[in-house]
Amino acid sequence: MRIDPSRPLQMAEVPTPENVRPRRLRHHPLVRELVRETELSARDLILPLFVRPGHGVRNEISSMPGNYQLSVDTLVEEVGQAVDLGVRGFILFGIPSFKDATGSSALEDEGIVQQALRALRAAYRDSVLLITDECLCEYTDHGHCGPLGEYGGRTDVDNDATLPLLAEQCVSHARAGADMVAPSGMMDGMVAAIRRGLDDDGFTWLPIMSYAAKYASGFYGPFRDAAESPPQFGDRSGYQMDPGNSNEALREVALDLAEGADIIMVKPALAYLDIVRRVKDRFGVPVAAYNVSGEFAMVKAAAAKGWIDERRVTLEILTSIKRAGADMILTYSARDVARWLK
Ligand code: PBG
Repeated sequence: MRIDPSRPLQMAEVPTPENVRPRRLRHHPLVRELVRETELSARDLILPLFVRPGHGVRNEISSMPGNYQLSVDTLVEEVGQAVDLGVRGFILFGIPSFKDATGSSALEDEGIVQQALRALRAAYRDSVLLITDECLCEYTDHGHCGPLGEYGGRTDVDNDATLPLLAEQCVSHARAGADMVAPSGMMDGMVAAIRRGLDDDGFTWLPIMSYAAKYASGFYGPFRDAAESPPQFGDRSGYQMDPGNSNEALREVALDLAEGADIIMVKPALAYLDIVRRVKDRFGVPVAAYNVSGEFAMVKAAAAKGWIDERRVTLEILTSIKRAGADMILTYSARDVARWLK
């Protein structure tokens, strides 16, 4: 059957392989490259790093092979090696020297993340982008993301008491050299409180990457080993989102944008690619996706068993996250990927 281009197509005469052959674009490897819609680059990636007190510390996190709890000195080395591979963005998590009910060690000038920021800034100046995770769960003795209160007989995080603490944490990190802050506590009003705090301190230029749609997820398991931050009772369902919800994610994103968020994060990534796509389509703002610890650990474990090809699957997963609409990806694979793409 031949198609007459001057005539509209009828259903009965849909093109046949005689004239339309999608495989023509797949035959030559260089044509495949020309028509590729999504390309992964080391520039898209942000590497999470864990810093703790001490000297010469390099504790491998057993559930996250190749990732370590580092002291400030070994962190500086680690960042240097990642930069050599082509990684430019880093997000820092702190394991403090003490924990208490309000997470006060998060706010100290000599806090662990503050020390790390100053050391990295001195070592690498503007050649690295330093982002800080802003949350209190690593710093509270109960492991929840802010001080607690009693609400209708249930213990939960005191939202409004947490806001000024988050603002103070962000200002302290900004003063120590952070380029961007990333609040992850899912508190109502956190972006507005942080924006006001930063602006009042002169950091009007400093962007906020908000964990706007963060789900209460089983995929955070290995991270909680790494950051020593599991909740000591209950779970985070009182502040993180229900995995079944999608419209609610759009409401959360709209609120955070209205409050001044510059980049919107969806987390986890892989089980929430539909959310990444909806957020990108609806708002058209820069979107980050967090390829979280459990997603990383699953690939590592299956690869260690020889059940999957780690490199191929990792690149496929990260490409799919970009294809879904993410502009940037936080991933523990950043070093490996940068090496593979070189
Ligand atoms: C802290 C925070 C968590 C993660 C990032 N920031 C843990 C949590 O919410 O329990 C998880 C990251 C990962 O699993 O890789 N609020």
